[in-house]
Amino acid sequence: MGTGSISVVILLVLVGGDTALSGGGEWQLLQKSIGIVGMHMQLLQNDRIVIYDRTDFGLSNLSLPNNRCRHNQREMVVTIDCTAHSVEYDVVSNTFRPLFVQTDVWCSSGSVSPNGTLVQTGGFNDGDRAVRTFSPCSPNATCDWIEFPGQLSVRRWYATNQKLPDGGQIVIGGRRQFNYEFYPNNDLLATQHIHSLPFLVQTNDIGAENNLYPFVFLNVDGNLFIFANNKSILFNYAKNVVVKTYPDIPNGDPRCYPSTGSAVMLPLKMLQDNNSYVEAEVLVCGGAPKNSFKYARAGRFFGALNTCGRIKITDPNPKWVMETMPKGRVMSDMIMLPNGNVLIINGAGSGTAGWGYARDPILNPFLYKTDNPIGSRFEVQNPTTIPRMYHSTAILVRDGRVIVAGSNPNKYYNFTNVLFSTDLSVEAFSPSYLEPAFNHLRPRIMSQFQDQLIYGQMLRVQFQVEAMLAQDLVYVTMLAPPFNTHSFSMNQRLLVLEKINVTKVFGASTYEIEVTTPKSPILAPPGFYIIFVVHQQIPSEGIWVQIL
Ligand SMILES: *[C@@H]1O[C@H](CO)[C@@H](O)[C@H](O)[C@H]1NC(C)=O
Ligand SMILES: *[C@@H]1O[C@H](CO)[C@@H](O)[C@H](O)[C@H]1NC(C)=O
Ligand SMILES: *[C@@H]1O[C@H](CO)[C@@H](O)[C@H](O)[C@H]1NC(C)=O
Ligand SMILES: *[C@@H]1O[C@H](CO)[C@@H](O)[C@H](O)[C@H]1NC(C)=O
Ligand SMILES: *[C@@H]1O[C@H](CO)[C@@H](O)[C@H](O)[C@H]1NC(C)=O
Ligand SMILES: *[C@@H]1O[C@H](CO)[C@@H](O)[C@H](O)[C@H]1NC(C)=O
Ligand SMILES: *[C@@H]1O[C@H](CO)[C@@H](O)[C@H](O)[C@H]1NC(C)=O
Repeated sequence: MGTGSISVVILLVLVGGDTALSGGGEWQLLQKSIGIVGMHMQLLQNDRIVIYDRTDFGLSNLSLPNNRCRHNQREMVVTIDCTAHSVEYDVVSNTFRPLFVQTDVWCSSGSVSPNGTLVQTGGFNDGDRAVRTFSPCSPNATCDWIEFPGQLSVRRWYATNQKLPDGGQIVIGGRRQFNYEFYPNNDLLATQHIHSLPFLVQTNDIGAENNLYPFVFLNVDGNLFIFANNKSILFNYAKNVVVKTYPDIPNGDPRCYPSTGSAVMLPLKMLQDNNSYVEAEVLVCGGAPKNSFKYARAGRFFGALNTCGRIKITDPNPKWVMETMPKGRVMSDMIMLPNGNVLIINGAGSGTAGWGYARDPILNPFLYKTDNPIGSRFEVQNPTTIPRMYHSTAILVRDGRVIVAGSNPNKYYNFTNVLFSTDLSVEAFSPSYLEPAFNHLRPRIMSQFQDQLIYGQMLRVQFQVEAMLAQDLVYVTMLAPPFNTHSFSMNQRLLVLEKINVTKVFGASTYEIEVTTPKSPILAPPGFYIIFVVHQQIPSEGIWVQIL
C-alpha cells in the first residue's frame, strides 16, 4: 500500500463518511482585515466585489474617507458613525476601498440589473423598505451607493430575489411577509403591488420560521421553483398560481433560515441532440433538524443534517433522491464551479443560524461531483484555519478561485471573550483544478466579445491548450455571478452551452469551439455572465460577456 492510499484511509476515518476521498485545494489569506464583516457579496463585471454588512453592529474597523459621517437619529447603536459598513474589493489588485451606505442593509437581498448595476433591496429598521443601487465605475473613480428610500411596498428582511427574463427582479417573502413584489415595479398583475404567497404561510414554523431566505430558481419553463422549510412548489408568478407541488424533502427536516441549509440549480445543459429540451435539477444540502432553533436558544446544539436531496424539477413525476455528505453541515454556501461541480464551503457541524447558536465549525469544504455516479460524488477538501459561521459568504471569481469572507455570530464587532470572534478577513480557496499539475490541460481563451451577445446566436471562442485536445471533453459554460448572503446564492446559474463544433486553427495548440448562446432570456435572464472553456474538467480563466 502506497502512502497515497494510507492518507486516504486516515481521512476516511477522520470524517467518518461513506464516500469521502482525499481532497485537494489550497487556501490563501488575502486580507487580514477589510474593516467590515463580509455578510453580503456580489461580483460585478469590473472584477470587483461589492461587500456590505449592517449598520447596527456599532463602529466598524474602517473609517469613511474625507471626514464623512452618518448622522442618523434612527440608528440603533451609534447615531453618529464615521465608519464604513460596505467596501468595494478589487479581485485583481487585492485592494479595497470604503463605500458609504446610509441606512441599515442588514439581512437584505439583491440582483444585478442587465446593465450591470447592483440593485439591492430592503434590510432592517430605517432601511427595510429602501432600494439601493451601485453602478460599477472605472478603476480610480469613486462611485458609491445611491439610496432610494421607501421604494418597496413592505419591509423586506430575509427576502430572496430572483432576476426575471424581463431583466427586473422579484422580491419574495422576508420576515412576516407572506407575499412578493417586483422591482422595478412594472407590475405584471397591475393594480396592486404586493401579491400573496400562501406557501410562505404553510412553511412558517411557529417560533422558528424555517422559511426565510427561501431557495428560488427560475425554471426553464419560466415558472419559479420555490423551496422553503421542507416543501417546494413550481410557481407562476405572473398569474399568482401554484403550477405544481413537489413532494416534501424526505425525513421532512427544515432546510431554510434559521435551519439554514443551501441549494443550487445544477448546470443547465443545452444539448444539440435533444431538440432544445433542457432538463433542470435542484440540489439542496444540509440544514438543521426540527426544533434545532428552539434547543440552540436553550444552549443545546443538535448535529446538523448530513443529507442532500436532488430533484429533477422538470420531470413530470419528480422525486427526491437523497445522498449523504461526509458530515452534517449548517450555514454552508454552495458554489457552482466553472466545470459544473459544486463546492460546499463554510458553516458549522451543529446548531443553527442566529446569534451564537452554532458550534463545531467545519473547516473543510466538500466538493460535489455533479456527474459522478451516486455514492461517489463527495470529496473532502483541504481545511482553512478560520471558522466561517453565521454571516459568512463565498463567491466564485473569474480566475476560478472562491473568495470567502465574513463570520459574525455576535451582535457587535466583538473580538474578545466570545466563542467565535467577529472576522474581518478575506480568504481565497483555490480548487484543485488550479494546481500547476493541470497547466497543460488548462484552456486559455484568446477571444474577447466587446459587443453584446444576443439569444440563440452562434459564438466562436478561440482558445489555446498545451496538451492534445480531447475534443469530446471540451465544453463552454456560462455563469451568472450570484448575490450571496446567509448561505444562499441568489441568481446563481451555470449553463453548459450547446456545442456545435471544435476545429483546430493555425498554431499547433490553438482551437476554436463553436457554441450557441442560450435560446431565450428564460434560460439566461439578460445581463453579464462569465464564459469559461472547460477541458477535461479543467476550466480556463473566464471572460465577461453581456447578453441582452
Ligand atoms: C478592530 O478594532 C479594534 C479596536 O480598535 C481592535 O481591538 C481590533 O483588533 C480590530 N480588529 C481587526 C480585525 O482589525
Ligand atoms: C442601470 O440600471 C439601473 C437599475 O435598473 C438604473 O438605476 C441605472 O440608471 C441604469 N444605468 C444606466 C447607465 O443606464
Ligand atoms: C489609478 O491610480 C493608480 C495609482 O495612483 C495609477 O497608477 C493608475 O494609472 C490609475 N489608473 C487610471 C486608469 O487612471
Ligand atoms: C414538513 O414540515 C412540517 C412542519 O413545518 C411537518 O408538519 C411535515 O410533517 C414535514 N414533512 C415531512 C415529510 O416530514
Ligand atoms: C431529452 O428530452 C426529453 C424530452 O423531449 C427528456 O425527457 C429527456 O430527459 C432529455 N434528455 C436529456 C439528457 O436532457
Ligand atoms: C463582546 O462580548 C462579550 C461577551 O458577551 C461582552 O462581555 C463584551 O462587552 C462585548 N464587547 C463589545 C465591544 O461589545
Ligand atoms: C466543423 O467546422 C469545420 C471548419 O469550419 C468544417 O469543415 C466541418 O464540416 C464542421 N463540422 C461539423 C460537424 O459541423
